[in-house]
Amino acid sequence: MSVSININDVTKKYGNDIVINGLSLKIRPGEFFTLLGPSGCGKTTLLRMIIGFNTIEAGTIEIDDKVVNDIPTNKRNMGMVFQNYAIFPHMSVKDNVAFGLKNRKVSKADIDRQVDEILKIVKIDHLKDRMPVKLSGGQQQRVALARALVIHPEVLLMDEPLSNLDAKLRVEMRNVIKKIHNQIGVTTVYVTHDQEEALAISDRIAIMNNGHIQQIGNPKDIYQRPANIFVSTFIGVSNILEGKILLGNNGEKRVLLEDSYFEEMDNIIGTVEDGQEVLLSVRPEEFIISNNKEGLKATVKSSVFLGVTIHYFVELSNGQEAEVIQISELQDIIPDNSEIYLKADRSRINVYDKESNNSLIKEVGFLGV
Ligand SMILES: Nc1ncnc2c1ncn2[C@@H]1O[C@H](COP(=O)(O)OP(=O)(O)OP(=O)(O)O)[C@@H](O)[C@H]1O
Ligand SMILES: [Mg+2]
Repeated sequence: MSVSININDVTKKYGNDIVINGLSLKIRPGEFFTLLGPSGCGKTTLLRMIIGFNTIEAGTIEIDDKVVNDIPTNKRNMGMVFQNYAIFPHMSVKDNVAFGLKNRKVSKADIDRQVDEILKIVKIDHLKDRMPVKLSGGQQQRVALARALVIHPEVLLMDEPLSNLDAKLRVEMRNVIKKIHNQIGVTTVYVTHDQEEALAISDRIAIMNNGHIQQIGNPKDIYQRPANIFVSTFIGVSNILEGKILLGNNGEKRVLLEDSYFEEMDNIIGTVEDGQEVLLSVRPEEFIISNNKEGLKATVKSSVFLGVTIHYFVELSNGQEAEVIQISELQDIIPDNSEIYLKADRSRINVYDKESNNSLIKEVGFLGV
């Protein structure tokens, strides 16, 4: 049975520095849960708290409702895969993977059987007598994965396991990891700062910044309905435009941008005020180039043809730069210095309060609940 992880109001201090301050998180049994955030935001620190390499200064971490704060790492039944693999260079693949079982005093016959089994799952059973120096990066990563999994951990922790691999192998290995997770269903906490990897591999993602959770949600919600400006600009590209709320006579809500406006938006929360300053976030692919001179006026500065799409880099009439992505059609690419008009799919744009930077869209759940 898979376990849940409940992180309740935990704090981590290094000396006087508070790196994590009252963070709470509930990870569901069997879930593939990813921590995503910029360098230094506390991802590794939180993983190390879960496995017990770091002390916890306040709050509790529970595995299936059992507080583990004071349980030593070797009694927590967790496996961890590190960025640099940390496999032992002087041991063969087989001995590396057997290491954790030997420490647990498992019988020789059982060790052989379990090592064979896990090497088959990660598909390196043909390499079991090789030494690590004779393995490729992807193969070494499979050894590290096998070593973490062979002890049948209740929780699998992975700290940027793919960041040392080249782009192609990274995609291949993330599919391997996802497949193995589907097969064995172990509750997994995965750390990355590669947003595409996070979107591709996760059941849910927590976006972190400065030791705080910014949003928790499934990949689609995080991308399409970011809870605040930080998430909106951290995940993918967002054009941020300044605007104002314009309330109609019957309470209908429009967002005014310069002298133009996007039509009525019925998904803005009810408490906005007329004239309230907002920020609009429009993904490049959400812009529509208007055929009838309606919308925001812009000038094409440059364009890049990428086969499936064309990227236009434009300047709006207030001088702000924006990126527009269109699916390429047979028509000509719009030449530089052309004047165009931009509209946006109003159901997809996101609106934020300028002061708090928080979303004003009704269905956005800050913590994805
Ligand atoms: N042992 C330590 N002593 C003091 N400060 C530390 C220690 N380990 C980490 N920190 C600090 O805590 C903060 C969070 O570090 P952490 O390693 O958790 O970040 P991260 O999100 O994993 O970053 P990266 O993506 O670069 O790996 C950083 O400011 C870091 O400098
Ligand atoms: Mg780290």
